[in-house]
Amino acid sequence: MPVRSAHEASDEGNTMTEQKTATLSFDGKTIELPILSPSVGPDVIDIRKLYAQGHVFTYDPGFTSTASCDSTITYIDGDEGVLLHRGYPIDQLASQSHYLEVCYLLMYGELPTAAQLEAFETTITRHTMIHEQMHNFFRGFRRDAHPMATMVGVVGAMSAFYHDSTDVNDQKQREIAAHRLIAKMPTIAAMAYKYSIGQPFVYPRNDLDYAANFLHMCFSVPAEKYNVDPILARAMDRIFTLHADHEQNASTSTVRLASSSGANPFACIAAGIACLWGPAHGGANQACLEMLKEIGTVDRIPEFIARAKDKNDPFRLMGFGHRVYKNMDPRATVMKESADEVLELLGVENNPLLQVAKELEHIALNDPYFIEKKLFPNVDFYSGIILEAMGFPTSMFTPIFALSRTVGWISQWKEQFADPQMKIGRPRQLYLGSTYRDYVDVENR
Ligand code: CMC
Repeated sequence: MPVRSAHEASDEGNTMTEQKTATLSFDGKTIELPILSPSVGPDVIDIRKLYAQGHVFTYDPGFTSTASCDSTITYIDGDEGVLLHRGYPIDQLASQSHYLEVCYLLMYGELPTAAQLEAFETTITRHTMIHEQMHNFFRGFRRDAHPMATMVGVVGAMSAFYHDSTDVNDQKQREIAAHRLIAKMPTIAAMAYKYSIGQPFVYPRNDLDYAANFLHMCFSVPAEKYNVDPILARAMDRIFTLHADHEQNASTSTVRLASSSGANPFACIAAGIACLWGPAHGGANQACLEMLKEIGTVDRIPEFIARAKDKNDPFRLMGFGHRVYKNMDPRATVMKESADEVLELLGVENNPLLQVAKELEHIALNDPYFIEKKLFPNVDFYSGIILEAMGFPTSMFTPIFALSRTVGWISQWKEQFADPQMKIGRPRQLYLGSTYRDYVDVENR
């Protein structure tokens, strides 16, 4: 299948020899719509000229059948349970690569040479500190603020503290903003955590790698020496890698939409963090662990399965189901292995939550409701168990997802700027409200 991007295809128009088209007939009109072929995956009907030619819109709430952009970063085959970053499968990246190398791959398109990787790691490491005055900004939050609330605010405020990298039309400034965001996000997440538990902020250490440094900033205290366990640092790194990007999900689309207006990168990433927070998206890892705790023991699982199946009960099995995956989420497979490793290392392999999770997974995967609806465990199902075993409170689960996903948001944002077709995102609607009516004075209503 030819590899063409949407803009190449549109430049060629209908004169292209292999151009496939779809025909749409309605109201006595017939419209030919070009079909674009991806490098892999389903074809896409190009409806950009539909309104101009047919004076109709398409209707697709939730974007279940709509491609919002073309991209070369991440590919998902939801039916087969495949996730590729720049072509490389996630299980290979999770086992053979590491987070900062995956960041480079996502941002620049190829695996780095040794020299490129070293230069990139040095750049990121040297940007991990935040502006000292931002400490005062943190102190303005209530002590019991959810770390995600703090992160939305602090990352948005980076546009005030790093104003010299907010000009999105300047390629150099865009690059600096990208590096700053990837480098400072762990510092910000760790500070949000430290603030919420009343401990002093811990400065980053340049001799530690990205994941180890995050554990150091979260768990060390000035009063005593803290040694990062390399196996836990590796597990942390793997969690970052598994969350790094996931093509046009809700938060990534939010970042792209916010950025389409020309908003600065810090504001756009803050918008992405806000979107990620919801329990249907990144907030599911916190909600999943809370659910496992609520279930508590294996004998209560049938009660919760029954609730999940009950149309009159809003309860859903958190960590189950996905808009795109109609098969096992490949990230969940790696996460499950990691959970076993980490819990064994910490000597808590009989963790009751893990027992509940494994049994719940087994029962759900054999239940006709879940089989018929193709509901499989997703990435959030096992991540919370690992994070809790490492010592993180549930409120930190989504901030960890946010810091991991920052590179995905940034890479997609960067790609959007390189796209000559970039224009402000502006969906249309199916209006069902009142038609024209005259204003009525309050005394006459
Ligand atoms: N438990 C019980 N039933 C479910 C679940 C679930 N977790 N998920 C979907 N369903 C049912 C749903 O009730 C619906 O049934 P029906 O067709 O009879 O109305 C059917 O499956 C399809 O669900 P949907 O809501 O139309 O599917 P969606 O693609 O809009 O939603 C989802 C995807 C991830 C929001 C949803 O599966 C869900 O709420 N899962 C729980 C939350 C969760 O784990 N989210 C993390 C997603 S992965 C990480 C990330 O993206 O951030």
